Amino acid sequence: MPTTPPSDDTVRSTLRLWTDPDGTPTVALTQAAEILRAGGLVAFPTETVYGLGADATNPRAIHSIFMAKERPFSDPLIVHLPDAADLPRVASALPPTARMLAERFWPGPLTLVLPRAPGIPASVAAGGATVGVRVPSHPVARALLRAAGVPIAAPSANRFMHTSPTSAIHVLADLDGRIDCVLDGGLCAVGVESTVVDLTTEPPIVLRPGGVPLEALRELLPTIRVAPRALPTDARQQEATLARAPGQMERHYAPHARLIAFDGAGATAIAAIRAEALAALGRGERVGALLADDEVAWLADLPVTVARLGPLADQAALARHLYAALRELDAAGVDVLLAHTFGRAGLGLALEDRLRRAAGGTLRAVPDVPPS
Ligand code: TXA
Ligand code: MG
Repeated sequence: MPTTPPSDDTVRSTLRLWTDPDGTPTVALTQAAEILRAGGLVAFPTETVYGLGADATNPRAIHSIFMAKERPFSDPLIVHLPDAADLPRVASALPPTARMLAERFWPGPLTLVLPRAPGIPASVAAGGATVGVRVPSHPVARALLRAAGVPIAAPSANRFMHTSPTSAIHVLADLDGRIDCVLDGGLCAVGVESTVVDLTTEPPIVLRPGGVPLEALRELLPTIRVAPRALPTDARQQEATLARAPGQMERHYAPHARLIAFDGAGATAIAAIRAEALAALGRGERVGALLADDEVAWLADLPVTVARLGPLADQAALARHLYAALRELDAAGVDVLLAHTFGRAGLGLALEDRLRRAAGGTLRAVPDVPPS
């Protein structure tokens, strides 16, 4: 069986349905749930990013997710539930830590990797014995999941390896004509994907940093570790790492423009961005920069297209705006896109992970020279 699906050239028209962001029952919600129950594909808002949903118990519906996204079958999907009480439908042999984390963080941006229950087809989990599960907190997601009445598998609703969508417009930009419906419930509040924690290992491992910070998880699981960021160079160790954390390839969440992300914050990082911008402008390239609001003035004298992420002190805003900013600068047609990290604390870890992957797997060191 091929690991990458052939591109699906079937053109269907994608229905855009608007619904109240507060999850109030609407005809649109009912219609979207009916499409899901019939085996169709519906993109819907969650608090993290828009998901591309399909009935997790229906192998044909699962197959069509991979086709629409052009996603390799080796990359497992997260199953979404309306309530933690539904967990036994999806996962079995639950460790005590699962209940503990579910109680504390659900509904919310946390995915738990657990032993897969027999009712969930292997294709959801890339053939593995585990399954990723989460209960999202977005009222539209919860209302849709309740109305559908089946567990819903949903990866982020973007083409494989592209930037994740935080609005229905982003979804359509990637998947219009490839999916049945997008349920438009406004913008996503968290803006980066869920934290993925593997509870089938001891100690538990964070496979992907995300909306729930590591510090919060450590309060309940003091021994928790973070999966290594860079892949080991040894081929056999590489295989073992990828088998545990499938889908964690280095180039991901990527804009079309070349992204250079500097690892550092403050004046030295801005000085590095400025020097790189001047070099690129000198080569005749169009330059874009992702900056916090407080940093915009530093580049104001250069012909650089800037996307603002929000106040430097407001990590939630930085995360909420990251993907829209990447898409905005791509749409502006820049050749090179400059950014920097925001530390490793709190949501800083997820921001760093996404910037690094969007930059192709590496961050650029910031020269330790104060700006002139
Ligand atoms: O916030 C989110 O998690 C969003 C929304 C839509 O819920 N979903 C999302 O799904 O980001 P996706 O498919 O783009 O990323 C899910 C990642 C996979 O690439 C894989 O790395 C990990 O979660 N994952 C899922 N199931 C897994 C499993 N059984 N074992 C290990 N990793 C798993
Ligand atoms: Mg994704």
